[in-house]
Amino acid sequence: MIIATDAEMRAFGHSLAKELKQADWVAINGPLGAGKTVLCAGILAGLGFKGEVASPSYAIVHSYEPPEVSVAVAHVDFYRLDDANELEELGLADERSDRITLVEWAERFGSAFVVPSHIINITPQADGSRILTLKNG
Ligand SMILES: Nc1ncnc2c1ncn2[C@@H]1O[C@H](COP(=O)(O)OP(=O)(O)OP(=O)(O)O)[C@@H](O)[C@H]1O
Ligand SMILES: [Mg+2]
Repeated sequence: MIIATDAEMRAFGHSLAKELKQADWVAINGPLGAGKTVLCAGILAGLGFKGEVASPSYAIVHSYEPPEVSVAVAHVDFYRLDDANELEELGLADERSDRITLVEWAERFGSAFVVPSHIINITPQADGSRILTLKNG
């Protein structure tokens, strides 16, 4: 589908949140500035989060827990992760049944240890819109 603006990306995330359930692992791929964090902010808003969503690229994972969200969420960014061995330390090496995991730059390590429930690819277009595809894994 075509996502014309960042507001539309956020709205798409908000509606996708209704489909997500505990144990889902959402792989979000696309180049720098594609809108992966905007999409995650929309998903988190759809799960009830009222605050600002910051990029987890430095911390690698930001955790959200009830009551600020209806279901626990790990918002993850693999961009700065160099070594798959760090995944274990970060608690990301195993499938987790008690939370939703959203992973930016998932293609860097994702398929090494988990089968995503959803795979999203975002491709920026010259006019500022984004082409977004969603596959269920
Ligand atoms: N159609 C659109 N969809 C999403 N974001 C858009 C769109 N048009 C413009 N933007 C802007 O593009 C930027 C996307 O930034 P964002 O941090 O979400 O990207 P990212 O994919 O997470 O990048 P990174 O790889 O650095 O994590 C935002 O500033 C947003 O406002
Ligand atoms: Mg980001």
